[in-house]
Amino acid sequence: MPETVTIYEVGPRDGLQNEAANVSLSDKIALIDLLTSSGLPAVEVGSFVSPKWVPQMAGSGDVIAGLRYDHAARLSVLVPNMQGWERFWNIRSAMEKGPDEVAVFISASEGFSRANLNCTIAESIDRLRPVVAAVQSVGLTLRGYVSCVTDCPFDGPTPPDAVARVAEFLRDLSPMPLSLGDTIGKGTPETVGAMLRAVQEVAPSTDLAGHFHDTGGQALANVAIALDMGLRTFDGAVAGLGGCPYAPGAPGNVATEALIALVEARGFVTGIDRAVIAKAAKLARAMRGSA
Ligand code: HMG
Ligand code: MG
Repeated sequence: MPETVTIYEVGPRDGLQNEAANVSLSDKIALIDLLTSSGLPAVEVGSFVSPKWVPQMAGSGDVIAGLRYDHAARLSVLVPNMQGWERFWNIRSAMEKGPDEVAVFISASEGFSRANLNCTIAESIDRLRPVVAAVQSVGLTLRGYVSCVTDCPFDGPTPPDAVARVAEFLRDLSPMPLSLGDTIGKGTPETVGAMLRAVQEVAPSTDLAGHFHDTGGQALANVAIALDMGLRTFDGAVAGLGGCPYAPGAPGNVATEALIALVEARGFVTGIDRAVIAKAAKLARAMRGSA
C-alpha cells in the first residue's frame, strides 16, 4: 500500500498576504472553493492579524463567511493573539460549519519575532497561552508554526537547538502538530537536515510539517531531504503564491503543484486531483496578474 503524504495548502493565507495585487473577496472565495474541491486535505484560508500590519488579510472574516463547506478539507486560520481569536470566534461561533483549526506562530529567532510580532520570543509564548486555552475550550484543533528555522533575515543562521527549544515551548502549551518554516527560503538540504535532527529529539516526525519558501530555489530539495527523514506533511501555495511581508526577500512558498508532482513521483499518494489544482493555479496567476 503506498504511503500518504499530506499537502497543507497555505496559498490563500501565506500566499495572498504578500501579493501586491488587490485581490477581491469574490476572487479569494472562488480560489478557496476550487482548492477545497480538489481533494486537498487542509487549506489555510486567512488570518486574524492586525489589518494595519497585513491589509491583504483584513477581509478574512468575510472570506470564511462566504466559503462552501461541502467538502472534507480541514480549514484553518492564523491567529496571533487574543484579539485575533475574539475576532475569529465572533464570526465562527455563529456559523454551523467553518474553519475548525487555528494556527499560531512563533519565531525561532529574536530578530524575526520583533519584526513580525513586535515582541520577544518569550512574550510571544505568553501571548499564545490564552489563545491555546480558548481554542481548546471550544474543541477546535491547533497547529503551530515555527518561523526562521534555518535562517533569519535579521539574525543570520538559526542554530538547530534554538528551533528545538521553541518547538518544545509550543508543545508544552499543547502537543500540537508543528510546521517548520524556512521563512526566507535560504535553507539547504544540509541546514534543513541538521534542524530536523534537533527537532526530532523533541517531537515525533508524524507531528512535523515542512514549510519551505523557494527564494533560493532549494524548496523541492528541502522537501526531498525532509521526506527521507520521515516527514509526511508539507505546506505549499498554489502557483507558488506569496511570502511573508515582514521577512525581506521571502517570495513564494513552494508551489503546491510541484510539491504534489515530487511526492507522487516518489511513490506517495496525496488524494488530490492534479487537474483541479492546475485550474486553481491558473486562477491564482490571473489574480496576481501573471497569467
Ligand atoms: P502590536 O502593534 O504590537 O499590537 O502588533 P498591539 O497589541 O500593541 O495593538 C496595536 C493596535 O493593533 C491596536 O489598535 C490593536 O487594537 C490592534 P489601535 O489601538 O492602534 O487602533 N490589534 C489588532 N487588530 C486586529 N486584529 C488583531 C490585533 N491585534 C492588535 N489580532 C500584532 C502585534 C501581533 C497584532 C502584529 O504584530 C501583527 O498583526 N503581526 C502579524 C504579522 C503577520 O501576519 N505576519 C505574517 C504571518 S506569519 C508568516 O507568514 C510566517 C509563516 O508563514 C511561517 C513561515 O513561513 O515561517 C506562518
Ligand atoms: Mg510562510
